[in-house]
Amino acid sequence: MGFAKRLKIQGKVLDCGAGGNRPPIALFSKHGYESYGIDNSQAEIEKAKEFIDKYGLEVELAEGDMRHLLFDDEFFECVFSYNASILLTKKDTEKAVNEMLRVLKKGGILCMNFLWYDKVDPRRGEEKNPGEFWNQEHGEETVHSFFTEEEVEELLKGTKTIYREKIQMKVWFNERYFTESSFDYIVQKE
Ligand SMILES: C[S@@+](CC[C@H](N)C(=O)[O-])C[C@H]1O[C@@H](n2cnc3c(N)ncnc32)[C@H](O)[C@@H]1O
Repeated sequence: MGFAKRLKIQGKVLDCGAGGNRPPIALFSKHGYESYGIDNSQAEIEKAKEFIDKYGLEVELAEGDMRHLLFDDEFFECVFSYNASILLTKKDTEKAVNEMLRVLKKGGILCMNFLWYDKVDPRRGEEKNPGEFWNQEHGEETVHSFFTEEEVEELLKGTKTIYREKIQMKVWFNERYFTESSFDYIVQKE
């Protein structure tokens, strides 16, 4: 959120994959942004709503899929997505990135993260396609996609990188903790 203030971004913000107990979009609402969030799980949306109502914030939350956004072109000044596209196949990540850039105004900023291919824990599962690791999570077949730097640059072409940071994430997965790298990107649509 701090980056949006520093870059003097104002107006409408969309969070893709906005559900969960501590929805990041709540911070945008708290700081006066016109805030929207979509998530493809109604149960996760309910959790986010509970948090948002508890703190008296305003976020337009709806069920939706980040691969097919139901918003007009260039509708938002900022699009945000954290730890959500990592749950898509690589082809679907490409669709989601294209959609997020489509609904973003020229000069607007996209903030999202990618899992980094240089450090994949073997417990992530079977690599069925390059960078796509499949495993059972909560009884369901789940994918986590990992990217190389070149692949991310290709996905984000047509944008200017404002900031990027590689961070170590402590991950709780199938009853164990392990560490992985996330590459967080803030890019501006040209
Ligand atoms: C690990 S949680 C992260 C939630 C939140 N962004 C955060 O950082 O706390 C991933 C979220 O992405 C949602 N999600 C997964 N695939 C999605 C899709 N195709 N479209 C929209 N949301 C999706 C999940 O339902 C879940 O709420």
